[in-house]
Amino acid sequence: MQGEVSAQDRLPVVVLISGNGSNLQALIDATTSGALPIDIRAVISNRRKAFGLERAQRAGIHTEVLLPKDFDAREDYDAALMRRIDAHAPGLLVLAGFMRILSAEFVQHFAGRILNIHPSLLPKYRGLNPHRQVLEAGDAIHGASVHFVTEELDGGPVIVQGEVPVHDDDTEDTLAARVQAVEHVIYPQAVRLFAEGRIQMTPGGVVLDKQPLAKPLPAESVAHR
Ligand code: GAR
Repeated sequence: MQGEVSAQDRLPVVVLISGNGSNLQALIDATTSGALPIDIRAVISNRRKAFGLERAQRAGIHTEVLLPKDFDAREDYDAALMRRIDAHAPGLLVLAGFMRILSAEFVQHFAGRILNIHPSLLPKYRGLNPHRQVLEAGDAIHGASVHFVTEELDGGPVIVQGEVPVHDDDTEDTLAARVQAVEHVIYPQAVRLFAEGRIQMTPGGVVLDKQPLAKPLPAESVAHR
């Protein structure tokens, strides 16, 4: 039964954040409720004021801040970040609104065990401002994707995708809020599949229960505002 996974059977996880940390909160809540067999060993931020740090501390999770300005080059920052992460021996690294481009060495080091969430239906609208791009394109459907991280920005194989409708009177803010609600469903969903050993990244894409995943899984359930 869920909730009965013993401490040593929980997957050690490190979460990287830069801001609000609402996705981190969704993972914390799912863990606390017994729905997610993980142990969040540390939350690391590249910004001192990230509100997600407070969320982690409230949940009794160890936090660290590593500031880019303390390093000369991206590679140096990433190498230090790698060491910080490795000190917690995670089986999974979760990027939850971590707004930095990662160097190839970093991605290779954690290959197959880094997940990211991106607020678009990838491969559409990689990179910045996806909500604005959706509105400009006049799309009727938008959403969010959880994917394995590869060296290609927002380009790794997608595991779960949650769709939301786009309304005529939407602004970037209303759209972002609707997308975030679905993010808080699909991130715990994807992390649980990984923690249960049901998904892997292979050269051919995502494998689920030993079968190639032909298309991203849909969100388990979500109520749209
Ligand atoms: C989320 O909407 C996530 O999809 C996005 O940042 C937000 C973080 O929110 N990530 C990216 O745009 C990555 N390219 P949160 O701090 O409240 O979880």
